[in-house]
Amino acid sequence: MHFIPEALDAYVVAHSENEPDLLKALTRETYQKILQPRMLSGHYQGRLLSMLSKLIRPKTILEIGTYTGYSALCLAEGMQKEGELHTIDINEELHDFQRKYFDASEYGKQIHQYTGDALAIIPTLETTFDLVFIDADKPNYPAYFHAIIDKMRPNGIILSDNVLWSGKVLEPLQKNDISTEALIEYNTLLKEDPRIETVVLPIRDGLTISRVK
Ligand SMILES: C[S@@+](CC[C@H](N)C(=O)[O-])C[C@H]1O[C@@H](n2cnc3c(N)ncnc32)[C@H](O)[C@@H]1O
Repeated sequence: MHFIPEALDAYVVAHSENEPDLLKALTRETYQKILQPRMLSGHYQGRLLSMLSKLIRPKTILEIGTYTGYSALCLAEGMQKEGELHTIDINEELHDFQRKYFDASEYGKQIHQYTGDALAIIPTLETTFDLVFIDADKPNYPAYFHAIIDKMRPNGIILSDNVLWSGKVLEPLQKNDISTEALIEYNTLLKEDPRIETVVLPIRDGLTISRVK
């Protein structure tokens, strides 16, 4: 979704960091071989995730929704030298594709993949997080927040993708549209929870930054 005119959007991308070659290759192969390639974060949002991670310098990162590994590799760029990134996806068919690209990067040994339902896996992770990226199934966003909030370090950052859902969060709710319903609930939850402060960025499909107080 473009919140600004397309020409201006192209200018913004052209004047932001270039996409690393490995991520260009990952994108090409995702479009050739994997269903729903538009789910991948892509050049501009990827550079933003990389920049935010470099500013945060996280020791531990959790990603909910790996897909083909694009955003994981962007977030890993800002990780501390001994840092670790844990990334969860329910689709086991993506595992080998992700591993191929993780191993082709300099972060392969620091990236831990988990296959299964994130809500079952998160409670088993015996660590706390400096940075969490929520980018899986939308109906579970509120549940993901509740699952991770007590695992966040003070000043930890939660990034949530697709929070504007192509603008549907503003439109009359259609019957059985559980994704939009959950995102409306989620955006209110982030705004009102006293443990965090939140800013919504109108970037791509909406990206929220929440800081744990
Ligand atoms: C939008 S894609 C993630 C894109 C990725 N973060 C990126 O930017 O390249 C969402 C992913 O969430 C996964 N997913 C959906 N439901 C899930 C669940 N309950 N637990 C874990 N992963 C789930 C899907 O299999 C899909 O790969």
